[in-house]
Amino acid sequence: MTTGSVPAVVPAAGLAAKAAGERPAPAGPRTFSGIQPSGVAHLGNDLGAIRNYVRLQAEYDAIYCIVDYHALTSTHDPDVLRARTRDMAASLLALGLDPERCTLFVQSHRPEHTELAWLLATVTPVSWLERTPAYKDKREQQPDDVNHGLLTYPVLQAADIAMYKASLVPVGRDQAAHLEISREIVRAFNHRYGETFPEAQAVFTEAPTVLGTDGVRKMSKSIGNTIDILGEPDLIRKQVMSMVTDTQRILRTDPGRPEVCNVCQLHRFFGEDYLEIQDGERTARTGCVDTKRLLADRIIRYYAPARAQYLELQANPGRVDEILAAGADHLAPLAAEMMAEVKQKMGLR
Ligand code: TYM
Repeated sequence: MTTGSVPAVVPAAGLAAKAAGERPAPAGPRTFSGIQPSGVAHLGNDLGAIRNYVRLQAEYDAIYCIVDYHALTSTHDPDVLRARTRDMAASLLALGLDPERCTLFVQSHRPEHTELAWLLATVTPVSWLERTPAYKDKREQQPDDVNHGLLTYPVLQAADIAMYKASLVPVGRDQAAHLEISREIVRAFNHRYGETFPEAQAVFTEAPTVLGTDGVRKMSKSIGNTIDILGEPDLIRKQVMSMVTDTQRILRTDPGRPEVCNVCQLHRFFGEDYLEIQDGERTARTGCVDTKRLLADRIIRYYAPARAQYLELQANPGRVDEILAAGADHLAPLAAEMMAEVKQKMGLR
């Protein structure tokens, strides 16, 4: 799915596809994305973004970042943050990120990100930040903790992307506003100091917004309406069985409306027969409970290999830490080069 000029499926033409085990050529087109260390990835993360991370690593110089500096705007327990960072890294690797084909690292391991964020902050009007939808939401969600990091959050996000001159950013629809601000910030920088950064485009999946189990709001850890795809099968079953379906379908014999039923919509991603399933709902041949049970079985089966790998990685945290450290090291020369270019352009010695 696309908005405006945003590509959904990125053309591979003209791009050197990476051979297995080969590092991308540094000059190639680059894709970057960031994800908060919110613990284990949920279905919204996977369908909305991670599937594209995995797809794009085959064709692009792909860089993925676990954004622990961003998380500090809401998570203040050091042990929780540490554990969640590793859980997210293990999730991403289990879901298909291949350290031979992409670079995975933790934001705070490349401190240049905050340095560049400061420099970009000086071209960013405060009014742009104050009108960011995520900032307004956060002010409501945590009224006693409206820290300065929440306001400057999009500047750091712009720095993440600009640091590597990335031109494509796989994200869910909820990040579209942040991507727009990122473009405005680099445009302002380029205008003042000369062409330096590309204006990065969002890349969406076929499921740019995955609704939570409540069927109304975006699936999100902070709301507590997630399906934890790498969790115990019993947990997944419980979460799927709690999903809100078509609220107008009261009796088992009432015809359903699959177009507004989140369960029916999610079936699209777990089987070729989703049109048949939708038809069953529409004609009341099947009930909501049957459809949910089937979805739970399919999600559990689909993610079983990833769950096995996740558990293996969790049992071997040293391996995860090694991959993250290698990722940060790999990026050191790129970050140094970028900081030198920017400082030179801005008149810093
Ligand atoms: P975050 O951690 O909230 O989400 C990570 C990715 O998952 C997508 N996503 C969803 N997509 C569809 N439906 C959902 N219910 C759903 N929930 C999450 C998000 O869109 C995102 O792509 N600000 C970012 C992190 C960030 C970043 C960046 C992203 C920091 N720097 C630079 C891109 C580029 C965030 O909080 O994502």
